[in-house]
Amino acid sequence: MINMEFTIRVANSKDIVDLLELEKEAHSEISWWKKQTKKEFLHSMSVSKYNVMVAIHNGKVVGYVQGELNIRGYGRFKSLFLENIYVLKKYRRRGVARLLVQMFTAYWCKKRKYVELMTTKKNRKIFEKLGFKWTMVYMIIGSTQKKVK
Ligand SMILES: CC(C)(COP(=O)(O)OP(=O)(O)OC[C@H]1O[C@@H](n2cnc3c(N)ncnc32)[C@H](O)[C@@H]1OP(=O)(O)O)[C@@H](O)C(=O)NCCC(=O)NCCS
Repeated sequence: MINMEFTIRVANSKDIVDLLELEKEAHSEISWWKKQTKKEFLHSMSVSKYNVMVAIHNGKVVGYVQGELNIRGYGRFKSLFLENIYVLKKYRRRGVARLLVQMFTAYWCKKRKYVELMTTKKNRKIFEKLGFKWTMVYMIIGSTQKKVK
C-alpha cells in the first residue's frame, strides 16, 4: 500500500536493524513495553510473513505492526492478536497507524474471524477511530512493578 509519504509492506530480515531502533524508542517512552530482540522478530516473521508489517518513509522504517496467531481467541473463534503497533513520535498523527492497520486487517480478516488487541485506556479512542470495538475490561491483582524470577 502506498500513499504520498509512506509505503506499507510486509517486513523482512533487512528491516530488523530499524525495528530494533523503534523498540529502543518504544521502551524509553512506555514503561510496560517489552523490547523485542532480533531473534523474536525473526521468529515472528517465520511463523507468517504477514505477521510483521512496516511503514517506510525515505527508505527507513518509521512504524510497524505485529501480530501473533491463535494465542487467545475471543469466544470460540480463532483470531489474530495484534500484539504491537508503534509509530516513531516524529511521524505520529499523519495516518501511519491507520495505513498499517488497514493493510494488516485487510490480510488477516480474510484468514481469521477477527483481529483483536489489548491496549491502555489512553489509546482506546485511537483504536476506535481505527475501527476496533471495545469488548472487555482487562483486570489484574498484584503489582505490575514487582520483579519475579
Ligand atoms: C497509537 C499509535 C500507534 C498511533 O499512531 P499514529 O500514526 O499517530 O496514528 P494515526 O495518525 O494513524 O491516527 C489514527 C487515528 O487516531 C487519532 N489519534 C492518533 N493519535 C491520537 C492522540 N494522541 N489523541 C487523539 N487522537 C489520536 C488520529 O486523529 C486518527 O483519527 P482520524 O483519522 O479520525 O483523525 C502511536 O501513537 C504510538 O505508536 N503510540 C505508542 C505505542 C502504543 O501505545 N501502541 C499501542 C499499543 S497496543
